[in-house]
Amino acid sequence: MEKMTITKLREMKEKGKKIVMLTCYDYPTALIMNEVGIDILLVGDSLGMVVLGYEDTLPVTMEDMIRYTQAVARGNKNPLLVADMPFLSYEVSKNEAIKNAGRLIKEAGVQAVKTEGGKEMAEIIKAIVDVKIPVMGHIGLTPQSVHKLGGFKVQGKTAPQVKKLIEDAQALEEAGVFSIVLECVPAEVARMITERVKVPTIGIGAGPYCDGQVLVTHDLLGLFDRFVPKFVKQYADLRKILREAFTKFKEEVERGEFPSREHSFKIKEEELAKVKDEKR
Ligand code: KIV
Repeated sequence: MEKMTITKLREMKEKGKKIVMLTCYDYPTALIMNEVGIDILLVGDSLGMVVLGYEDTLPVTMEDMIRYTQAVARGNKNPLLVADMPFLSYEVSKNEAIKNAGRLIKEAGVQAVKTEGGKEMAEIIKAIVDVKIPVMGHIGLTPQSVHKLGGFKVQGKTAPQVKKLIEDAQALEEAGVFSIVLECVPAEVARMITERVKVPTIGIGAGPYCDGQVLVTHDLLGLFDRFVPKFVKQYADLRKILREAFTKFKEEVERGEFPSREHSFKIKEEELAKVKDEKR
């Protein structure tokens, strides 16, 4: 696979080739995702929930994002690397937004950043794009607005809400985003948006008509079971595999079976004898 770029993503939409994105938070996982040929790695602020154990993504800081993104960047070669701008790192002013987006480029090594919100964020997004930093938008269920939305709920279920989502997507496109994540919206609504914008849409809980799909990797692997949204398909049960491995290790240590000779280092008998002799 060659290096993924925002130009190639646009071409994929035009050719009807699906875009594959996954969240990634560490170096070994980045290496595997590179081997498999995932198109976009997103260091999502979902790391606040699935890695750091917070209730939502709001406590995640720029320092958290930079640290985890640096680890992913060290294992990344060809996929486009995108990092989330955490809550309040871009909303307060254009200057703050540019400064923090710049930190993710310069210190963390991403090629693009992701922001949440529609029309109301368009000016800020345009300011980031104007300093040559590519931005991925994110509308529908935007987890940083969890309190305003009254929980993690499906969005766009009434005609006025659908109208607003379409306007939001168009405002983001005008502001210069290269792609838009659509989270938790009915499939037919995602289809309408996908048909009305030229930039690729990436769906999560948004049905099959988006130009690409993303899942939170810990959900896909069955590693995070605090709640499993309806749209998640678990492709593995890593929690079960880890439980079995940890239990086996515990039992073998307790029984004195681990480490065996095979997992122990050796010293020549004569060297050992010298020390034993000295002691006497
Ligand atoms: O933070 C995240 O992982 C995300 C994805 C759900 C798109 O924003």
